[in-house]
Amino acid sequence: MADKDGLKAEKNYHLDVPFANQGGFHVKGANSLDWGMKHRLANIFNPKSGNTVMFAFDHGYFMGSVSGLERLDLAIPPLLPHLDVLMGTRGALRACVPPECRKAIALRTTSGSSMLDDDLSHEVIAVDIEDAIRLNADCMAVQTFIGADGQLSSLDNLSKTVNAGLRYGIPILGVVAVGKQMERTDRFFKLATRMLAELGANLVKTYYCDNFEEVVAACPAPIVVAGGKKLSEEDALSLAYNSIRGGARGVDMGRNIFQSAHPAAMAAAIARIVHEKFTDKEAYQFFKDSTK
Ligand code: 5RP
Repeated sequence: MADKDGLKAEKNYHLDVPFANQGGFHVKGANSLDWGMKHRLANIFNPKSGNTVMFAFDHGYFMGSVSGLERLDLAIPPLLPHLDVLMGTRGALRACVPPECRKAIALRTTSGSSMLDDDLSHEVIAVDIEDAIRLNADCMAVQTFIGADGQLSSLDNLSKTVNAGLRYGIPILGVVAVGKQMERTDRFFKLATRMLAELGANLVKTYYCDNFEEVVAACPAPIVVAGGKKLSEEDALSLAYNSIRGGARGVDMGRNIFQSAHPAAMAAAIARIVHEKFTDKEAYQFFKDSTK
């Protein structure tokens, strides 16, 4: 039985040493996976930059219509040239996204929360593996609630989805939710991201924090940073830049794109940071030049 006695606080992350078991494949922790899993991960993470720009529009699964996403059918198409991955629900994809769009799909597969709840931490697996295959999903996104009342059931959801994904070659995106009562500290994010990777998530979505490099180093799967609440474009671009500089392999932004006054220009500026080594200042200048 695992116990907490004698567990010393970890301290050496070898931040200057690249991940060892990389082999020839560009996605961290995926070297031993089957061809299909690697193919889908290569759809998500650009083999040249190793990074990804995910556009998240799955907010409706528990928030309904949110500002900037009132019309998904109109909001998404202008952004497509700047994106690598669409993160959405099966309903939004089928109803609002042209099937000829050649973007990777991160399929939101859990549900059960709504904005009317106080405790958002109880979800179920809502999408079965057959529908994920039908939708040609490149990964299945599972919300987890580490440290919240719904921890056990959310980790059960994750493990069941990992089992199904391994059977059919579909990677899993483990999503670290941060509820009101949770702490946005490196200590929490190190725990949560490492747990999800150890439980089989092939990529993990979390938030930027202090000592972010250590969170990345301790997680044997690529980390993608969620944008979170709307910031100024300048601050959102700094968040993207600091995340990539800290070792994130991409961003998964929603509100900081679709609530920008110029969503397409914002997506393009983010893509320059993620794939073309722009600094935040250069990307912000690009954004301003694009919106003159
Ligand atoms: C919402 C999500 C989003 O995928 C994630 O939070 C990214 O969106 P944003 O940048 O708006 O936070 O999980 O349920």
